[in-house]
Amino acid sequence: MSDKVVQETTGQLLVKWDREPANLLQMLIGIQQSLHHIPNQSIDLLSSALNIPQASIEGVIGFYSFLHTQPQGEYEILFSDNIIDQMLGSHSLAAQLGERLGVTPGGIRSDRRVSLDYTSCTGMGDQGPAALVNGCTLTSLTPERIDRITALVEKEIAVAEWPSELFHVGDNIRRRDLLLGNELPPGRAIENVLSQGAGRLLDTLGNAGLRGRGGAGFRTADKWRFCLQAEPTQKVVVCNADEGEPGTFKDRLLLQHYADRLFEGMTLCAAVIGAEKGFLYLRGEYRYLLSPLKRELEQRRTQGLLGEAILGHQEFDFDIEIHLGAGAYICGEESALIESLEGKRGIPRIRPPFPVTQGYLGRPTVVNNVETLIAAAMIAVHGADWFRAKGTRDSSGTKLLSISGDCQRPGIYEYPFGVTIAEILDDCGAEKTQAVQIAGPAGHWVPAEEFHRTIAFEDLATGGSFMIFNRSRSLLEAVKNFTDFFVHESCGFCTPCRVGTTLLKKQLNKILNTHATRKDLESIETIATLMQETSHCGLGQTAANPILTSMKKFPLIYKSRLRSTRFEPAFDLDASLEEARQATGRDDPGAHLKGGGV
Ligand SMILES: Cc1cc2nc3c(=O)[nH]c(=O)nc-3n(C[C@H](O)[C@H](O)[C@H](O)COP(=O)(O)O)c2cc1C
Ligand code: SF4
Repeated sequence: MSDKVVQETTGQLLVKWDREPANLLQMLIGIQQSLHHIPNQSIDLLSSALNIPQASIEGVIGFYSFLHTQPQGEYEILFSDNIIDQMLGSHSLAAQLGERLGVTPGGIRSDRRVSLDYTSCTGMGDQGPAALVNGCTLTSLTPERIDRITALVEKEIAVAEWPSELFHVGDNIRRRDLLLGNELPPGRAIENVLSQGAGRLLDTLGNAGLRGRGGAGFRTADKWRFCLQAEPTQKVVVCNADEGEPGTFKDRLLLQHYADRLFEGMTLCAAVIGAEKGFLYLRGEYRYLLSPLKRELEQRRTQGLLGEAILGHQEFDFDIEIHLGAGAYICGEESALIESLEGKRGIPRIRPPFPVTQGYLGRPTVVNNVETLIAAAMIAVHGADWFRAKGTRDSSGTKLLSISGDCQRPGIYEYPFGVTIAEILDDCGAEKTQAVQIAGPAGHWVPAEEFHRTIAFEDLATGGSFMIFNRSRSLLEAVKNFTDFFVHESCGFCTPCRVGTTLLKKQLNKILNTHATRKDLESIETIATLMQETSHCGLGQTAANPILTSMKKFPLIYKSRLRSTRFEPAFDLDASLEEARQATGRDDPGAHLKGGGV
């Protein structure tokens, strides 16, 4: 690659992103996309143009799994490593592709044509096995499709010219309710807030009982009110479209088909809190949605629903910019997301201060999930009672679930809160279900005897993931997948999480290899408690959940693998004396220790 190409590419991206240091990550993503890595020369150029030390830029590159300083293959293929993709055969397909193309997973072919690896869940659990090729999403992979992909790579066909059916992402909407089954005329929610005033709209949201759909369930009206009351300075609205929780893909559908409603919700929030700037933080795995989303924004600008003097109101200017993520699950955590928006490594901030008072570049910032913002816009038009009529007392309205795994009809289901697990399993055609995993790796394992339980903040709270495992599945394999996920996604900032996730992985492998004893189960609990109590953010505090909750709900799968339920020596002293016995030529019973170990 010539110096001129590197220079031109870097220069163009500097111009595109206004030479603004906060846009560093977006420039790096652009360079990676064009040059398949980020050359030293680009780092030099960015460093002097943005006045950021080279070491800091290298630190940012090292943090995000989609950025590399070493050249990747011209075709960079990453298989989704979610447990559901695995259950659908992703590992054998990756092996097949590797064999055909002469590259092993984790490697780059010697001619640098192709590299192959795994990545965390790509959000296609309802149409896997899935993979990314140069950031574009491949779905419904089969051995036949792998052969076609092999031929396309060997013939050096550009990814943009590959057959479109390889990239088809289906909707799979299986059940509609309040959000998916009702109209939202563009601009109506904004008109309502502009005519009624922010206070009235906040009362409506409060009466509706809307709680955040990203997982934590914080009351949306309170969040917006805190931001409204923060010091009168430039405020920011951020939509969290990171959707990194393995098994979740409902935001994908909303971004693909309901983006107009999402932008309406963001503009509504801006009108309430007094923001001029909005960001949509879109996970890198959903890059295929970038162009359609930009078109949607452009259309809203031409309709007078974004930009200056929205709907003719001279005092209301607001616009939205889309920023991409680059393969880091932790960036879904709101303060890490804000760091990432500022072009830095996505390390969660110490809180307080909370984003509502000090967020993006120190400005008061509302961060909301995609579904929350759409629900807010719908409530602004249809009213609090309309929303409250569905759900339970503490969980009003509906929840979108991403259903995947062992069932006949995986996809997106919108249910009123309070629906039971049994009803859901019936609807999606699940049979002989052994367990359901709700809310992703950090969430809840639900065994068959608890299928009467409900989806609700007061029972089983979830960001949207609903994975089904029938009786033929090894739940320990799923627990291993989740535990590996946390090792990979720990940002490494604090020791309890960085070390704890690796220790848990080792202990679990010991159990899987039937080398563990009851002592190891106790040690897992000790590590988990330490992680829960001392980790800096939610990821470390919940990373032991897959093991802990499965140990509690399915004790037999662990006990049946234990080598001995008695104490087992960690160190075999008798074996260690073997060398001494050989040196002295003595191997009589007196040269052995009774019992063998200590
Ligand atoms: C490790 C971690 C990952 C998260 N990932 C997401 C995510 O992908 N999407 C999301 O909306 N919220 C995610 N959250 C929750 C956010 O921090 C935040 O609570 C949410 O975006 C607020 O929006 P809401 O009030 O509309 O739910 C994550 C939290 C943690 C601790
Ligand atoms: S708990 Fe884990 S993810 Fe969170 S800051 Fe610490 S190392 Fe990073």
